[in-house]
Amino acid sequence: MIIQWFPGHMHKTGKILREEISKVDVIVEILDARIPGSSLNPVIEKIAENRRVLYLLNKADLADSEGIDIWLGFFRKFGKNVLAVDARDINSVKKIVAKIKEVSGIDTDTQVLGERRKRVRAMITGVPNVGKSTLINTLAGSNKAATGNRPAVTKSVQKIRTPYDIDLIDTPGILWPKFENQRVGFRLAVLGSIRDEILDIFEIVMSLCDVIRRHYQPQFLKRFGADEYPEENIDVIALVGLRRGCKVKGGDVDYQKAAGLLLRDVRDGKLGPICLEFPDDVFKDSDSFELLEKKGEEDFLDE
Ligand code: G4P
Repeated sequence: MIIQWFPGHMHKTGKILREEISKVDVIVEILDARIPGSSLNPVIEKIAENRRVLYLLNKADLADSEGIDIWLGFFRKFGKNVLAVDARDINSVKKIVAKIKEVSGIDTDTQVLGERRKRVRAMITGVPNVGKSTLINTLAGSNKAATGNRPAVTKSVQKIRTPYDIDLIDTPGILWPKFENQRVGFRLAVLGSIRDEILDIFEIVMSLCDVIRRHYQPQFLKRFGADEYPEENIDVIALVGLRRGCKVKGGDVDYQKAAGLLLRDVRDGKLGPICLEFPDDVFKDSDSFELLEKKGEEDFLDE
């Protein structure tokens, strides 16, 4: 299956993003800590050029801690500003606020007599479902942005005030139009950045079974109370169906439903913390911060 995702509003979104980026002090790009490379949006990278960017590896609670350390080291090696966070955790606020201010280079604490107190304008970006709205709500201290495990909830740009001298610019969760590297598309699909309606969930889960086979067998066996990981992926899904009582009329396993349940378990961290990629899987080599085959941004930006 070739995964493509390019709804009509994307060209408009590209234009809005370009305009907004020129007005902000710092860009906060939220990545999924389980796929920091695949969730890094080449469109944003291109528009942001040399602006100040803070990368947040979000959903760190769902990510393998060794993987996080490797990724933090990789970003830092290239002088990038990066933090691993859990956007739902109110205790992360202090650390995120301090880092946004540091990266922006704006001193909001020193007030010049007769002048208005300085505020930092921070744009929140990221592909769908990485936790943009959650972070905004945590920083704003209220439900200003709609959350939900479903891509592209936010449709237009909004400005949200926080009590920390930071204004957040919320942007739509965009994906670039083409995935030259289908593995990137696969990982984004597994973690919910591509609308499930346009995916062949069954096919995604069949591939996911291979990933589990290679890296997360013990966690799977524990979760589903099995002794051995089946040789065929279809039997892995059947096992999930049997354990969770997914049956169609006549008593056969409901494979579609079982596949959906397994996918949800992985997304929600029910198999434990995971890491679906390392820098070598997504970057050209360990000496450059250049992504492998993530083309397609040209189409997005040209109109
Ligand atoms: P988006 O704006 O980038 O599209 O993402 P959004 O904030 O809507 O978050 C998508 C889902 O990810 C939400 O779950 C949200 O609670 C969850 N999430 C965000 N940050 C974190 C994190 O650091 N750790 C974990 N474990 N989950 C996180 P949901 O179940 O779809 O929605 P809700 O019922 O929580 O509102």
